[in-house]
Amino acid sequence: MADAFDLVVIGAGPGGYECAIKAAQLGLRVAVIEKRDRLGGTCLNVGCIPSKAMLHASELFHEAGTSFEDMGIEVPKPKLNLQQMLAFKDEAIDGNTKGIEFLFKKNKIEWVKGEGQIEAPGKVKAGDRTLETKSIVIATGSDVAKLPGVEIDEKTVVSSTGALELGKVPGKLLVVGGGVIGLELGSVWGRLGAEVTVVEFLDNILPGTDGEVVKNFTRTLKKQGFSFRLGTKVTKVEKAKSGVKVTVEPAKGGEAEILDADIVLVAIGRVAYTQGLGLDKAGVKTDKRGRVEVDASFKTNVDGIYAIGDVIAGPMLAHKAMEEGVALAERLAGHYGAVNYDVIPGVVYTSPEVASVGKTEEQLKEAGIDYNAGKFPFTANGRAKANKTTEGFVKILADKKTDRVLGVHIIGVGAGELIAQAVVAMELSSSSEDIARMCIAHPTMSEAVKEAALAVTGSPIHM
Ligand code: FAD
Ligand code: NAI
Repeated sequence: MADAFDLVVIGAGPGGYECAIKAAQLGLRVAVIEKRDRLGGTCLNVGCIPSKAMLHASELFHEAGTSFEDMGIEVPKPKLNLQQMLAFKDEAIDGNTKGIEFLFKKNKIEWVKGEGQIEAPGKVKAGDRTLETKSIVIATGSDVAKLPGVEIDEKTVVSSTGALELGKVPGKLLVVGGGVIGLELGSVWGRLGAEVTVVEFLDNILPGTDGEVVKNFTRTLKKQGFSFRLGTKVTKVEKAKSGVKVTVEPAKGGEAEILDADIVLVAIGRVAYTQGLGLDKAGVKTDKRGRVEVDASFKTNVDGIYAIGDVIAGPMLAHKAMEEGVALAERLAGHYGAVNYDVIPGVVYTSPEVASVGKTEEQLKEAGIDYNAGKFPFTANGRAKANKTTEGFVKILADKKTDRVLGVHIIGVGAGELIAQAVVAMELSSSSEDIARMCIAHPTMSEAVKEAALAVTGSPIHM
């Protein structure tokens, strides 16, 4: 017999689980089909959470070996117990995924284990069950983008998933792709002792990030030991007796060169994942990049079928997926829900962190929008001086006529937390003067945001 629900969500990542919880809170009868043996999707199992646990642990390991002595803390040279560090990471996954299981039980959401396949609008198959439902939400996320001709064995040629599981620190780690994954996971293994080389196709790392930030960040990463081969493409990856031989050549063409590595991390982006979902049978349209097409209310071309998160267009970020999940649940329960795509922050959790929200200087110039820029370096911030975390700056871009904040870009320790101030300001359509007039606790790194705002139209106090 078929089971009847108001909503069946396929995929229990941040998009799917938040959609399910919100819908249940609003009174809908909800089931979630998830084929992994744990809830939480890419983010909790092989993405955001494990990578941040490894970034945290490796940063402390590095700091204990470098900056403790300056503060008068004398400890023996730290010794790495990698197995224990990986166990620490696994505990973080366990705690978080169990947390979602608890929330499902609390909200009476049924977790249907197995692969979901859409039979028709209103009907989803999972194993030997057929679930009948008013609405179907596709929240199946994304998968690693493959480099043509390169097999990822997750042992010597790895994706981010294998790079979170390496059994020993590689002597030489070659990262293909200077994006977020390459720089975060490159940082982890670099801090633990690997020699890290990043091969990036474009002339700069972190495409889409404010140019001034990228320049500053590249310099910092080089000081940390990163080597960059920019404007370079990988043409062949061959496994050797020990390690891997990687053939590279200039992106624009030219002489080839072979680089040796113990481990190669392929991090050239992610692609929407819709395998086995039955989209063709249901008649659901996808775009050229395989992403499910939706309208502004997350509806596909088929009535009663919706999609959210990495499987649709937009930044592949957990919080973007979550906001879409909540907005859609609200709509399905008869309320109004929407996502403000102009104010979605992005954070690179390296040391220092890079965080931004809104438009970059390059984007404003391209759009022909006149703006004022205010910048404040952490070298002039009292707390940063006390903590010896003076790298980086805050930059605020505001409309020249109206002073409305259009973009905020931060590089510095704790930038991922500081950016939340900018998100609040932009969500409330604040001017730079609004931020400049707020009373911010002293001494905090947050004062640099206020000072940057003061710099937009006048001058900061501490410079
Ligand atoms: P996913 O999290 O991918 O979840 C989809 C789920 O659907 C999966 O569990 C999958 O098993 C399941 N599924 C697929 N098909 C079916 C089917 N037919 N039936 C049943 N189940 C199915 N984002 C950030 O914002 N911050 C970060 O710090 C961050 N770090 C990251 C680090 C790494 C290494 C990676 C790889 C990604 C990171 N991301 C980060 C991106 C983030 O993980 C994704 O944007 C987010 O997980 C997308 O959520 P989602 O719900 O759309 O899909
Ligand atoms: P990405 O899109 O961030 O970066 C990929 C990089 O690879 C780009 O710089 C691109 O120019 C380069 N590239 C593409 N093809 C190449 C080739 N053949 N040779 C050399 N370089 C090539 O993708 P990444 O780092 O794989 O991350 C995937 C997704 O996961 C991102 O969309 C990101 O949003 C998300 N993510 C988010 C994190 C965060 O929010 N902190 C952390 C990790 C991942």
